Amino acid sequence: MKTGLIPVSVTGLTTSTPDLTTYFSPRRYTNMDSLVEAARDALADAYVPYSEYRVGAALRTADGTVYTGCNIENANYSNTLHAEEVAIAQAVADGHRGFDRIAVSSGVRDGVTPCGMCRQTLAEFAADDLAVVCDEGDGAVTTYTLGDLLPASISESTLTEAAGDR
Ligand code: THU
Ligand code: ZN
Repeated sequence: MKTGLIPVSVTGLTTSTPDLTTYFSPRRYTNMDSLVEAARDALADAYVPYSEYRVGAALRTADGTVYTGCNIENANYSNTLHAEEVAIAQAVADGHRGFDRIAVSSGVRDGVTPCGMCRQTLAEFAADDLAVVCDEGDGAVTTYTLGDLLPASISESTLTEAAGDR
């Protein structure tokens, strides 16, 4: 053993396995969209001690690679990372800059859509025709375009045009 290192023993910590039995199973539907399936799979890793509302996202890049994310909450609430942000961050950190499709699922048949902040973050890297596939459960989805969900987003051109007017 290296000298100077104090072995730390951690006791009393319990790791609880989330009870996902109330969520629908990603494997139940044979013809399910594989991106929706990936979003459902991703929500199993959500860290949601405060809201207990799991979200999974699966983002397809222009070259077909799929990145997933789940929400990660924080005791200060505002540091919470949204599932879509986590998926985008992983993809961008891996060098991707263009996306054509994202699927989102909360696992509870509510057709959850990305929040306003996530829509804007998507708009940084995707065009208005990005398909946003929202899981309604039982194999059903509602598909929007990003332009439907966030018309008139702020973009790089907003800033360059303003600079030109100064
Ligand atoms: N949440 C997402 O992960 N994505 C969204 O765009 C909507 C909200 C998460 C954040 C928080 O952990 C929980 O859902 C309840 O708002
Ligand atoms: Zn969001």
